[in-house]
Amino acid sequence: MNQITFTNQESTTVTAKQNGETILETALQSSYPIFHECGGKARCTTCRIQIIKGLSNVSERNEREKLLARRKGWDETIRLACQTEVYGDIHVRKIIESKEEIFQILNEPKQSIPSEEIWLVVLFIDLKGFTEFSEKNYPHDIVHVLNRFFTMATEIILNNGGQIDKYIGDSVMAYYNPVSSDKDEMVINALRSCFRIQDKMMEFNEFLQDRFQHTFNIRMGIHSGKVVMGEVGHPISRQVTIFGDTVNVASRIESLNKVTGTNLLISKSSIASFQEKLKIKKRVKAKLRGKKISTVLYEVDGFEKDDFCYSLQKSFDVILRNSSPFYTRFYQKLLERRPDFKNLFSNTNFDQQGEKLVSMIQYAIDRLAILQKIKTELINLGKRHVSYGVREEDYQDTGMVLLETLEESLGDEWTQNLKENWQLAITEVASLMIQGHKEI
Ligand code: HEM
Ligand code: FES
Repeated sequence: MNQITFTNQESTTVTAKQNGETILETALQSSYPIFHECGGKARCTTCRIQIIKGLSNVSERNEREKLLARRKGWDETIRLACQTEVYGDIHVRKIIESKEEIFQILNEPKQSIPSEEIWLVVLFIDLKGFTEFSEKNYPHDIVHVLNRFFTMATEIILNNGGQIDKYIGDSVMAYYNPVSSDKDEMVINALRSCFRIQDKMMEFNEFLQDRFQHTFNIRMGIHSGKVVMGEVGHPISRQVTIFGDTVNVASRIESLNKVTGTNLLISKSSIASFQEKLKIKKRVKAKLRGKKISTVLYEVDGFEKDDFCYSLQKSFDVILRNSSPFYTRFYQKLLERRPDFKNLFSNTNFDQQGEKLVSMIQYAIDRLAILQKIKTELINLGKRHVSYGVREEDYQDTGMVLLETLEESLGDEWTQNLKENWQLAITEVASLMIQGHKEI
């Protein structure tokens, strides 16, 4: 697993338990001391470190860290250990080494992070009927259910390029910031998040039905436009948040679902340039609270034309319902096609290996919208494959067999379009893994 070498005075190396752990988590698990006065909430900056080697093996700065770095004028090598996730080996230097330095930092005059106006897609999601559920259940069950829902929704939002602004009661407020991609793509990412959350509600409801004889529906509202992003609150507990008319409208659109009997409403202005790509179920014209003129909204029911990421995610859901016949068939076909690969798998437990393969495919497919963020993990997977004796040219046949096994397993759901999408995804993943072979 990933190793972090601290190069302060004596060099110390600590090993992560999991890929994607933060530098602070790994250090503390190994009892390596790093100051973290705010408990890892990206507020105190006492965990700041400098990355000496392996900058490409860590996550990009999140919004909070970006704002802090801008405020402090840090170059790209200075990072917060509590926010920086690690995906390969790195060498770092702790910047704060004594209590005196901490005292200085904590007493630095607090400048607030400069506020800015930016264009965003804002999404509100609310659990319908949560109050009734809370009235009938114990506090620890209420918190457990809420956290289970928040975890599921948050993972989907983050995997589709969104950020969580905050949790408000039983609602999630999220936003999609088109830093490097175009605005329409961000709206599509928000819509895809909604469809995925809707899909996952089935599993969530099965669990709820079983444990609490209760099921939930959700209400979702999307609007896009300019918002103000800034740090608000008392100086000791400030939070970066977004606010402004766009946020209020998104929240009111979500509430309007109650009146229109819909689940997902989006403003017409957000989808005007690509409306034909969506399945529109209903058009609603309504006066939102506090507005003088009516707003046109659409209830969206899915993608009209296959969305690249969503089509792959939906089709892999089918495989995940019963994955063992899929991977068993895959390895059977692979070894029939390439008997010479038997040497590579001479000590392999195919059930365990199959589970690992399926989870890795699921991991990558769920994150297709943010493939750049998991690039390092896939490059490292490629590097590990060199040690298994795999060669660059082996990906061609393996990819073909994977595609054929998907076709066999998906039966009637397999279409030409889906085939092309899978082909493209397999090629992208394989080319990142091959990059790992070249980097060794
Ligand atoms: C589509 C690209 C591929 C993906 C996503 C993939 C995924 C994985 C995963 C998740 C593991 C588990 C071990 C680890 O995480 O390091 C693994 C192991 C392995 N893979 Fe792949 N793989 C791919 C391509 C290939 C190719 C082209 C070969 C060559 C035939 C291959 C042969 C192996 C072998 C020999 C192991 C080790 C098995 C063992 O531990 O006994 N893989 N692969
Ligand atoms: S622990 Fe406070 S900013 Fe990282």
